[in-house]
Formats: sequence, structure tokens, C-alpha cells
Amino acid sequence: MGAVPERFVGLRCPACGEAVEASFDTSHCPACATLLEPQLDLDVIELTRHTLEITAMDSMWRYDELLPIDAADAISVGEGGTPLLACPELARDLGVGDLWIKFEGSNPTGTFKDRGQSLALSAATKVQAETVALASAGNAGHAAAAYGARAGVDVRVFLPARSGFTQKAMVNVHGADLTVVQGRLPDAGAAFREAIDAHPDWVSVATDDTPFRREGKKTMFFEIAEQLDWRSPDAIVYPTGGGVGLLGMAKGVHELSELGWIESTPRFFAAQSTGCSPVVDAFEAGSADIHPVEQPDTICGGIEVPDPTAGSLILDVLRSSDGGAVATDDDAILDAALSVAETEGIAMAPTAGVTVSATASLVEAGQLGVDDEVVLVATGTGLKEADILRSQLMSKGV
Ligand SMILES: Cc1ncc(COP(=O)(O)O)c(C=O)c1O
Ligand SMILES: [Zn+2]
Repeated sequence: MGAVPERFVGLRCPACGEAVEASFDTSHCPACATLLEPQLDLDVIELTRHTLEITAMDSMWRYDELLPIDAADAISVGEGGTPLLACPELARDLGVGDLWIKFEGSNPTGTFKDRGQSLALSAATKVQAETVALASAGNAGHAAAAYGARAGVDVRVFLPARSGFTQKAMVNVHGADLTVVQGRLPDAGAAFREAIDAHPDWVSVATDDTPFRREGKKTMFFEIAEQLDWRSPDAIVYPTGGGVGLLGMAKGVHELSELGWIESTPRFFAAQSTGCSPVVDAFEAGSADIHPVEQPDTICGGIEVPDPTAGSLILDVLRSSDGGAVATDDDAILDAALSVAETEGIAMAPTAGVTVSATASLVEAGQLGVDDEVVLVATGTGLKEADILRSQLMSKGV
């Protein structure tokens, strides 16, 4: 087993608090089977805001002292260091004070999934994995294929038939093994589960199985805070499927607060499609748990997650941050993505367009307004799904 850095002091269960020894091959709580999260001893960290300020923001690995793996051991193709783009015109249109888009489309495979897969493959390498595997809606599979190629390990990707052409094609291009499963994400998940049960030597890099995807994604918040000169925005609106990025960023908020690097904390808002809105439904019902959506149907593949395993943790983050959850329909989501492309020159993934339509709804409901500084997380680039964006134009006769 690879060496564990001094700062990586254990793994903790976010549900029941159980703590276990730090390692790269323990993933679930022995008491309640919840996915564990790495615990860092922030007292041994020498990194300072000043050190960061005098280095280029070129990779998420510049925060390695706040990660459980050293940059020297990273499987990296240049992930992170994405721009935070000011969008004053969009802020005016939407009716908020300041609006920023954290543009994750600048990552090597075009989405924020690279942050999670970079850390997950780095951890898999620490346990000498020869094969990693996952089911995904598409983007995580694409990222795993790229990072697996970089790490020199075999990658098995299970995607639903409705996954995008580019995602499927790029899994092949990176030399990974692709299984296309009829149906939707839960069907791909079932095929993956059957395959991994039959191959105990495969290491799972799936959402629910590795603590290191969430951990990698917390660097999105580190960058947002740094790009705002160590200030937290008032609100972060996030396109929520499994909630990996949301939970990761919430952990990032907690750690920067502990370090005293930020003074305030953001309200988190989950944005979903009305075609699949388990988090919004539970939030509105005041429920502590998610009820699975029986017939999910949205063109936004990344957020078509009918039964997010981490649902109750997501709800906790939304409620404890005084945030919220809102669903808008696919037509409004696609129109929002198009309007950002037209007015701001930013091509965001259709799925990420939901942050814009959600913000409009939040303003209408009086939850956000002209006093708020808001960050929308554009989790991916529209270039991977130009066909969907173009056909929305066609549906308007353009
Ligand atoms: C572009 C895009 N945005 C958002 C999501 C949802 O991410 P999370 O699991 O962090 O909620 C995905 C997941 O596939 C995605 O591909
Ligand atoms: Zn537990």
C-alpha cells in the first residue's frame, strides 16, 4: 500500500461519525456502510494563502497539502485552475448583485469530473490497481478513461445507451473498455455492479464507492474562494445529480473556515430538472431522506440521477447552509444555456444551464436578489453536447 501523508490522519463516516485508519483501500463505514471521507490534520499544513497567491493557478494539485495525496504522486493531465468569469450582463438580466460562472469546461476532458478522477486514479495507483471500473452518465466515464490511460491501468466503463456520442467515443479513444447498457443510469449501474462482483480485483472509481472523487471536487471551492480574494460568495448554485461536487465543495468550505482563510460561508442551492428532481422534492417536503424518482426523464444526462445515495447528506448541506433547491424544466434549462452562450460567449453543457434557469427561479421566489454575490458552477463545456444545444435552436425554427 502506498504511503499515507502525515496530514491524512483517517477516514470518517459523515453519517455516524465512525472513524477508521487512513488508507487508500477502505471506502465504506464499517458500522453503517456510508461512503467515508478523508480527514486531514489542518495543524500540520504549512501552505498559506500567500504561498498560493504567488504561484500560478494552473492545477488543482497546488492545494495538495489540503488533499490526502502529494502532488508528486498525482495522476494528472492539468485539471483544475479553471476560470471564474464575471458576468455582469447576466447578473443584471437575472436580478442578482454579482454573478460569476466557475467554468469547469476548461478541464482536460471538458468537465469537473477530471478533479475527482485525478484524485481517484491517484489513490487507485497507491493500491497498485490494475483495473478500475465505474458506471456513469458519460462524463465521469470519459474522465476515468483519460486518467486511467495516464496511470497505465485498464479502465472498464459502463454507460447507458442515452449517454452522449462524444462521451462514448472518447472512452474508446483513451483505450478503455466500453459497455453500453440499454436503458438509463441505474441500468448501467446494475450491469457494472454485476461485473465488479465477478471481478474482485477491479477497483471501483464509481460515485458511491471512492471517497476520493468528492475530495478532489472540493478544490472547486478552494479556487472560487481564492479567485474572490479569499472571500466566500453569498451563494453557490450547483447542477445536482449524485451531489458529489456539492458535498465536496461543502467539505472545502468547512476546511477553509477551520484554517481561518474565509470569514463567511456560502448558501448552497441544488438545481435540478423537473424531469428528475428527487433532491428538490425532498427539500420541499421537509423530508430528511430522498424518495427515488420512478420515471426519470431529462435531456440533462448528468443530473438524471433518480436515487442519489448521498441524498440525506445533500439535504443536510442545503439546510444547514440556509440554501435551497429548485427545479426548472428542460426547455428553460436549454434556453438558459443558449442565452449564456449568446450573451456571455460561454458555452456551458446543457446540464449546467440548469444553474441559470434555477437562479432566475430563486430570484423570482425572493431567495436571491440584488444584494447577493452568486457563483454558478458550469460543470462542463457545451462543446461535448453541441448537438443538443443546436437542436434546441432548431426547435425554435432557427
Ligand atoms: C456536466 C455535469 N454536471 C453535473 C453533474 C452532476 O454531478 P454531481 O454528481 O456532482 O451532482 C454531472 C454528472 O454526471 C455532469 O456530468
Ligand atoms: Zn457510519
